[in-house]
This record gives sequence, C-alpha cells and structure tokens, in this order.
Amino acid sequence: MQTAPILVIGSTGKTGSRIVKSLEQKGYPVRQGARSSAIPFDWDRPDTWEAALAGVTAAYVSYFPDLAFPGAADKIEALVRSARAAGVRKLVLLSGRGEAHARKCEDIIRNSGLEFTLVRAAWFAQNFSEGYLQGPVLDGMVALPAGDIKEPIADVDDIADVAVAALTDDRHNGELYEITGPRLLSFAEAAAEISAAAGIPVRYMPITLEQFHAAMLGIGGPVVADVFTEICRETLDGHNAYLTDGVERALGRKPRDFADFCRTAAASGAWKKAA
Ligand SMILES: NC(=O)c1ccc[n+]([C@@H]2O[C@H](COP(=O)([O-])OP(=O)(O)OC[C@H]3O[C@@H](n4cnc5c(N)ncnc54)[C@H](OP(=O)(O)O)[C@@H]3O)[C@@H](O)[C@H]2O)c1
Repeated sequence: MQTAPILVIGSTGKTGSRIVKSLEQKGYPVRQGARSSAIPFDWDRPDTWEAALAGVTAAYVSYFPDLAFPGAADKIEALVRSARAAGVRKLVLLSGRGEAHARKCEDIIRNSGLEFTLVRAAWFAQNFSEGYLQGPVLDGMVALPAGDIKEPIADVDDIADVAVAALTDDRHNGELYEITGPRLLSFAEAAAEISAAAGIPVRYMPITLEQFHAAMLGIGGPVVADVFTEICRETLDGHNAYLTDGVERALGRKPRDFADFCRTAAASGAWKKAA
C-alpha cells in the first residue's frame, strides 16, 4: 500500500478537484496543493513549495492562471528544482494544445530528469459550466473571438482520468497525451447543444480580438487582457481543428462526447438561473 502522498497542485480547480476525488476513491494518499490547503501551495510564494513537496512521490501540476503568462516558464523550472530536491519521482503537467508557451514548459518537464507525463488538453467543455463562461451561458450569450472555427472540445472528466492514470501507473511515463473530445464543434453548435440541454436560450456571438481584449480589460486588467487575447489569437485560428487519440491511448476507451457533458452539467444545476 502506497503511503507517500500524491500532490495535486490546483486541487480546488476544475481538473484538480476531480483528480483529488478519484485518487481518494482509489485509496491513494493525497496532499491538496492550493493556497488554502492544510499545507498551502502558492505559485507566488516559493517559500511554500518545500513543505508542499516534502515526502511526495508524484505531483500533478496545473499552473495558474496559464502557462502563457509572463514568468510561467521560470516558475515551472524552479518547481522542477524544488521537486528534485524533495525527492519527487514523477511530474504530470497539464498543458494547452497549440500554445507555444505551453510547449516551452512541457520541454522543461521533459528535460527535468524526473519521470513525467504531459497532458496537453484542448479547450475545456467545463469552461461553459464551471469556468468563466458559466455566467455568459446563463445570460444567453457567449461571445468569443473564434469566428466559425471548430474546436474538439475536451471533457475535464477525461483529462482528470488521464492524469490519475499517469500519476498512479508507470506505464504512462514519458508519454504525451493530447486530449480532445470525439467531435469537432463550432462554438455556435456548442451553444445550441447547451441551450437544448439546459432549456434556456444560449447563442454564440463571434467577436473580434479587439472586442475580446476590451471586455477582458474590464475583468482582469491589462496583463490578463493581453495574455488571454494572445491565447485566443494563437489557439482559436482553426489550427487545432482536428481530433487526437490521447484518451483512447491512455485509457483504452473513447473520450466523452459533448452531449454527455451537456446532460451532466444540466443535471448538476450549473445552468439553473437563480429564482
Ligand atoms: N480552460 C481551458 O480550456 C484550458 C485548456 C487547456 C489547458 N488549460 C490549463 O488549465 C490550467 C488551469 O487548470 P484548471 O482549469 O483545472 O484550474 P481552475 O479551475 O482554473 O482553478 C485554478 C486552480 O489554481 C489555484 N490557484 C489560483 N491561484 C493560485 C496561486 N497563486 N498559487 C497556487 N494555486 C493557485 C486555485 O486554487 P485556490 O484559488 O484555491 O488557491 C485552483 O485550484 C491552466 O494552466 C490552463 O492553461 C485550460
């Protein structure tokens, strides 16, 4: 029986919370790694890392806010050094599909000298139900600078299942898994499926990168607006519009369809308007 804990960085987030739950259900000892955890982990406070990594066998690494933010690669490099010093054996990195900055961070993990698995994910379905687009869905209008491109929207349940497999089974060491859903969807099609499942009107409105930037300025300030606009420019241009077999290679099953996601999210109440 394994006694050394598995550290889940971002344990309160969309992927991390599912990974914690699944590992605990399977009987693995887990150490949560968020700012409010019993042993806190804070990307902005490297003095928290030694205690969070102490005695850990493997760590799931989801970076916040995104690997494209200034300084992310330096922090990933510093985390690798701390992990090596702490005797951590394996790192499982959550990365983003078709992002140059994320590739740089993947390479840091690949060349870390530690065992590793790279989980390179497409756009999350749960952005619509648990993330920053839940509010816009409830308001009936999802505005993105995505034109009519198609994206193989991925289910976070699949990402978590792949990460759990990687954290607990050495057969996944050295692998790069690209995680997509089983279907390409335009954002207009995604909005229509959400609308049907949720029983509320939801439309997609294509906007320009400049309009997106202006909207983000109001929400997160100039750095957040600049970086997320660049991520959209880089990832929502259609070059990611193809399916991959990462879920099938890692888990031996098909990825979850967006229709399953819509049913589950609707049943969870994510799209119920407050009375
Ligand atoms: N959304 C997408 O479509 C998509 C696609 C591909 C890849 N990704 C990648 O997914 C990652 C985010 O993962 P997620 O969606 O599972 O997380 P999330 O739902 O965005 O939650 C963020 C997590 O990060 C933690 N956090 C926030 N600030 C922190 C800090 N200063 N130090 C340590 N932890 C901090 C939060 O915990 P506390 O606030 O409790 O501390 C929380 O656990 C990003 O790196 C993103 O690039 C996203």
